[in-house]
Amino acid sequence: MQVTPWDVEGVIDYDRLIEEFGMRPFSEMLGEIENPHILMRRGAIFGHRDYWRIVEAMKAKEPWAVMSGFMPSGLPHFGHKMTMDEIVWHQKAGGKAFVAIADMEAHAVRGLSWEKTRELALEYIKSIIALGLDTNAVIYFQSKSDHVKDLAFELSAEVNFSELRAIYGFDGETKLAKMFIAAIQAADILHPQLPEFEGPKPVVVPVGADQDPHMRLTRDLAARASIFSFEPIKGGLRIRSRKGRDYLDALKDLNFETRFYEEHADVFGNIDEIEREVRSIEVKLGGFAFIPPSSTYHRFTTGLTGGKMSSSKPESYISLLDKPEEAGKKVMKAFTGGRVTAEEQRRLGGEPEKCVVFELYSYHLIEKDDELKQIESDCKEGRLLCGKCKKIAAELVRNFLKEHQEKMEEAESRFEDYIIIGL
Ligand code: TRP
Ligand code: SF4
Repeated sequence: MQVTPWDVEGVIDYDRLIEEFGMRPFSEMLGEIENPHILMRRGAIFGHRDYWRIVEAMKAKEPWAVMSGFMPSGLPHFGHKMTMDEIVWHQKAGGKAFVAIADMEAHAVRGLSWEKTRELALEYIKSIIALGLDTNAVIYFQSKSDHVKDLAFELSAEVNFSELRAIYGFDGETKLAKMFIAAIQAADILHPQLPEFEGPKPVVVPVGADQDPHMRLTRDLAARASIFSFEPIKGGLRIRSRKGRDYLDALKDLNFETRFYEEHADVFGNIDEIEREVRSIEVKLGGFAFIPPSSTYHRFTTGLTGGKMSSSKPESYISLLDKPEEAGKKVMKAFTGGRVTAEEQRRLGGEPEKCVVFELYSYHLIEKDDELKQIESDCKEGRLLCGKCKKIAAELVRNFLKEHQEKMEEAESRFEDYIIIGL
């Protein structure tokens, strides 16, 4: 199993991913979330980092944001739809939404021309609007955001090559542009906390598990680019300054009992309140005071033909722009969790947990839990055979795409209602 931002190979063991990368299982958060999305309830979102920050901000009705990005190097498909649905859900739950169009990444890493990435990018923008993104979102092309590019440069001062090699496996052949993309993505993720966007706040980044290396780097950079760092101690927090001892003097104004030492200050009281106050002092001093971003991780979308989805194999995935009829045919040819013969399937039942058709139902096509349960038990108990099941799925896919594509067209006529930087 190999999972990096530019390479995913082998059978993915999600429990092992959680352990190896040091994520947390998302199931531990479910009880805390009001009206969780089907992707949360049905286990498509399997892991997270610091999602509690988002839950707390939601409960306290404090500002928070959701941000993610799309690399326009091929057409948007059901894998991208997951991220889009997650952004839209979080926006409806009260987060300020930021959507990056990763045209710099498509250009630098995939070698696409600016014209081509732009043409593809429009389909992503139309799609996410069609899926319900509200007008108060910020959509931007990386290449057209000075906030992001300036911040990327600033952050790049905090990373050296050895770290990039350890995180991404970069070597002597790696192009500088590809390294810079790591800084750009970190800036994508942190820029919602700039003063221009009302300063430090929890930000959740919904992504596929392959993006976790970017999250780890970004969370480190959030701390390194900020002045004050925090370490829990008994009864409070130990605060250090990364930019010199002088900054510690500014903590004199804190409304908490504070003891000053040579290299740090110990502050006693409620740690959330201390953190908040120290961050607001840092912002006044001109620091970033970034809060480490939170993230959620969803499973990779299985290719219709069983293996990996690949943009070079159109029959392996359904694009959101596929003609409904063509998409229906792809479903009919999909790899299922069925048995070799009908007789065997009636006797043993199918295996929905291994079935891409069932995955489509579960993550995209069936909203109602009891309907999904019915299909699952009919499949497992051999009452439903794959031929009939695929026909039902194909019909749902056709209807979904027809409606989605109408909404995309309509979305284009409403572009001016949105903030789209670089359009
Ligand atoms: N690298 C991501 C991908 O390949 C796209 C992306 C760019 C992104 N900027 C981002 C994802 C910021 C999350 C947050 O799909
Ligand atoms: Fe998949 Fe449906 Fe076949 Fe079950 S009956 S294995 S859910 S296609």
